[in-house]
Parts: sequence; structure tokens; C-alpha cells
Amino acid sequence: MKEKITIPKKRLLVTGASGFLGWNLCQEAKDKWDIYGTVYSHPIEIEQVKIIRIDLTDYDSLKKMFHEVRPDAVIHTAAASNPNYCQTHRTESEKINLDASIYTAGLCADHKIPCVFTSTDSVFNGLTPPYKEDAPVSPINIYGEQKACAEEGMLKRYPKTAVCRMPLMFGLPSPASASFIQPMIKAMREGGELKLFTDEYRTPVSGKTASQGLLLALEKLSGILHLGGRERISRYDFGKLVQNLLGLQNAVLTPCMQKDVAMPASRPPDLSLDSSKAVSLGYKQPTLADELKVFVG
Ligand SMILES: NC(=O)c1ccc[n+]([C@@H]2O[C@H](COP(=O)([O-])OP(=O)(O)OC[C@H]3O[C@@H](n4cnc5c(N)ncnc54)[C@H](OP(=O)(O)O)[C@@H]3O)[C@@H](O)[C@H]2O)c1
Repeated sequence: MKEKITIPKKRLLVTGASGFLGWNLCQEAKDKWDIYGTVYSHPIEIEQVKIIRIDLTDYDSLKKMFHEVRPDAVIHTAAASNPNYCQTHRTESEKINLDASIYTAGLCADHKIPCVFTSTDSVFNGLTPPYKEDAPVSPINIYGEQKACAEEGMLKRYPKTAVCRMPLMFGLPSPASASFIQPMIKAMREGGELKLFTDEYRTPVSGKTASQGLLLALEKLSGILHLGGRERISRYDFGKLVQNLLGLQNAVLTPCMQKDVAMPASRPPDLSLDSSKAVSLGYKQPTLADELKVFVG
């Protein structure tokens, strides 16, 4: 009888595995890849994922990790992802959003392996949507500036980098990081008032769909790719959709405008992404109603 041969899986390094997107990505990729996931201040465990605790802003540690793990590919999701934090902590956020990203691209270039970067729709000012990949960047806050600089720096250091611009995301939470939908649903269930912008538009997707897009980019692409969702929707209408799908009619949704809420970081009005390039490569964009089914029940 012939012995069964098991082909070892390739090693995928996911930075930011404790984060919302990194955790969702690990769930999506772990059957196909042997995953090494990095964490920093939240040392969580993920089934089937080898966890490495590391400060990615420390180049020597990062280089050592690449040497030890010898990844076949890297998806870099780690970031200071809150624009208000970046606005008030420019130096700290720049280290992870810019420096660590360029270190990562450099090490991927040295190891000659694919590198995927999670950038953001916030590289645009939100005045001339929908945005295609070739639209000039025009950030209006420090977070958007740092991500735009990281894109440029990574592509310069390693032109084979796949820069994926992510939209607003929602979905299942990691043990350490939720998406905006969890507090939204909690407030609705408690019957509280929710003030939501009627003049802020996004093309949201779930963390699951976004992760599938990142894995597609890993296989197929270098350069820039937009991974937005199928529908352009305001925060208020998104709230209404969630309310109706979950049958939470007692919640009070109050329309408000961006100008009514003061925040450290300016908010672009309409960051809708044109993601037709990704769709032509095989990116699947479910409807929001389908994406939200996971929360029903
Ligand atoms: N969420 C969205 O709607 C959205 C929209 C557009 C783009 N993006 C982009 O998508 C990516 C993922 O976002 P997310 O929402 O998943 O972010 P997140 O939940 O805030 O997670 C950030 C991750 O980065 C890690 N990290 C931060 N500083 C680090 C450091 N110095 N060394 C090592 N790891 C560090 C965190 O580790 P610990 O928690 O363990 O410290 C965490 O795993 C980011 O690049 C973000 O800019 C997100």
C-alpha cells in the first residue's frame, strides 16, 4: 500500500493577528496556510496559528523574526488604525504606520517573497468619489498622510508590494479588537439613542470579504488595489439597515451631520472606492444584507 504524502503548507506571516482584520484574516487563511501571527499588547491565542509577540517598530526584532520564521508571504495589517489617535500621537503612530511598514517591505524584498499591505480609503479627501486606483492621494488627516507615505515608501523599496486600500470594515470581533458594528448593535439592543452621520459615505465590507480580497491580492497582484464593498452607503443608512435586519425597532437612530461632532481628525465626506479592478481579478462583493446575516439571530 502506498504511503500518503502530506505536502507541507506554505508559511504566511500575518502582522497584527490580534487586530480586527488580522484575526479575521487568520480565520480565512488558516486551512490553506501555515500561519504565524504577530501580536503586540494583546497576547491572544488563535487556534492553528503560531503566535509571535513582537514590537514591529523594532527593526532588529523584525529582521530576526523573518530569519526565524522564513515566511513564504507576508500580509501586513498591523497599524495604529484610529485616525483620532494618530492625530494626537503623530510620532508614536508614525513608527508603526510608516517605519514598520517600510521595514516590512524591505525584508520581503530581501527574502524575495510577496508582500501585501493594508492601506486605507482615507488616503483620499472624500470630495471626488468614487476613487479608482489611479486617483491622486489627498489625505486630510495624519492617519491618511501616514498611510499614503507608507504606500509610496513600500512601493519604492519593493515595487512588487500589493497595496490594498481597505474601506470601512465590520464583522466578527477578535478577542482584542471589535469593529464599529459591535457597539452599534449593543446600543441598539439597549434601546439607546444612536447619532449617525447622514453626510458620510463609505463602501463597507465585512472582515471576511476583505480577507478574501487580501488573499486574492497575494496571489495575483503587485501595485495598488481597491477592496471596497458593492454598496455606497451613509453611516445613518447603514444603521437603519442593521436595525431592520436585526429587528431592533426600539433603538432610536438620530440623523446628524459631520459638522455636529468635533473630533481631532478631520473626516472625509465620501470615501467610496471603485473596486472594479479587484472584481475583474475575482473579488466577490456580497450585498450588505448578506454580509450582515452573521449578526442575525
Ligand atoms: N478597521 C477598519 O475599518 C479599517 C479601514 C481601513 C483600513 N484599515 C487598515 O486595516 C488594517 C487593520 O486594521 P484593524 O482595524 O484590524 O486594526 P486594529 O484592530 O486596531 O489592530 C491593529 C493591530 O496592529 C498591532 N500593532 C499596533 N502597534 C504595533 C506594534 N508597535 N508592533 C506590533 N503590532 C502592533 C496590534 O497589536 P496589539 O493589539 O496586540 O497591540 C493589532 O494587532 C490597518 O492597516 C488599518 O489601517 C482598517
